[in-house]
Amino acid sequence: MTVATMAGAGAGMPVVRMAHAKLNLTLAVTGRDRHGYHRLHSVFVPLALADRLSLAPVTGAQDTLHVTGFDAGPVAENLVLRALAATRSAVGGRWPGGPGPTPPLAVRLEKRVPVAAGLGGGSSDAAATVTGALEAWGAELDATNRLAVAARLGSDVPFFLVGRPALVEGRGEQVVPLGGLHGSPGVLLVTPAVPVRTPDVFAAFDARRASGDGAVRLTSTHLAEELRAKLSVADLVARAGALTTANDLLPATAAVVPALVPFKRALTRLVRRPIGLSGSGPTLWALYASEPEAVEAAALVRAALDAGELAAPGAAPPFVEATSIHNPRQQEAQS
Ligand code: C5P
Repeated sequence: MTVATMAGAGAGMPVVRMAHAKLNLTLAVTGRDRHGYHRLHSVFVPLALADRLSLAPVTGAQDTLHVTGFDAGPVAENLVLRALAATRSAVGGRWPGGPGPTPPLAVRLEKRVPVAAGLGGGSSDAAATVTGALEAWGAELDATNRLAVAARLGSDVPFFLVGRPALVEGRGEQVVPLGGLHGSPGVLLVTPAVPVRTPDVFAAFDARRASGDGAVRLTSTHLAEELRAKLSVADLVARAGALTTANDLLPATAAVVPALVPFKRALTRLVRRPIGLSGSGPTLWALYASEPEAVEAAALVRAALDAGELAAPGAAPPFVEATSIHNPRQQEAQS
């Protein structure tokens, strides 16, 4: 999800975008396509937790990227720069300063979302880069072309162009918004300091079995139907038990990071809530009726870690954060 908060390059101001993280409330693997990608049936929701990007035209020879906060590493860095190059190529000379190519941009990226965590931070940065660059250049790309650019950048990127609760299918390129969630549930995130590569998890999935568990697909279908119609925060939280087991990648991620299994169990005991895995992990999550309740839970987890009562995998302490499901529909209704 991306939100413009300033005027574009025309006003000589940088374009600022928030690149929200995502959570998979469900994730069913339903097969593979002819390119070897896994076909998904997954309910994605954006989180309030977000990276911040600012994009400004520069006179230099090439695009530049400056990253602060979480060390983005080469993958996320390349994704932002790749997103700029892909958007420039799709725009060609069709921008107000054309017919030459669009000018280089200087991007400042403040990383607040952990990387390689199952939260889609890099993909969200890429989507924010596509829309932010278009605004900075005063250029337009129709929805079909935007989607094509996004899908080429990565499987999760099309979701972030939509930026609201959605059913995601195919390898990630089919995104249907689900407008029925009323309210913004609180979310506790705990990300052990063990970066997990998505391809490794899918490879472990393939090594275990050819397709997902039908029960996960059923839960995912049911949740999508409910979120398409009308679902209150209380009803969503009441379904947490079913949702936290509705991820076909759970056994594969556990095979890649075995220490995640006892940690998830210990966390469940500590917060007395069902704990889920987002995407290919390693981020663990719990749902709450409100963000303040998630804040209390985060304090409990931090205190247990500090006291040595909870041991997390990884060389560093985990990222522990209270956030909420970002619900633009609700914010539009209130404004
Ligand atoms: O599309 P993206 O580059 O984000 O995907 C990273 C890797 O994750 C792919 O190379 C593939 O191994 C795996 N993947 C998959 N099926 C998907 C999404 C990702 O197999 N739907």
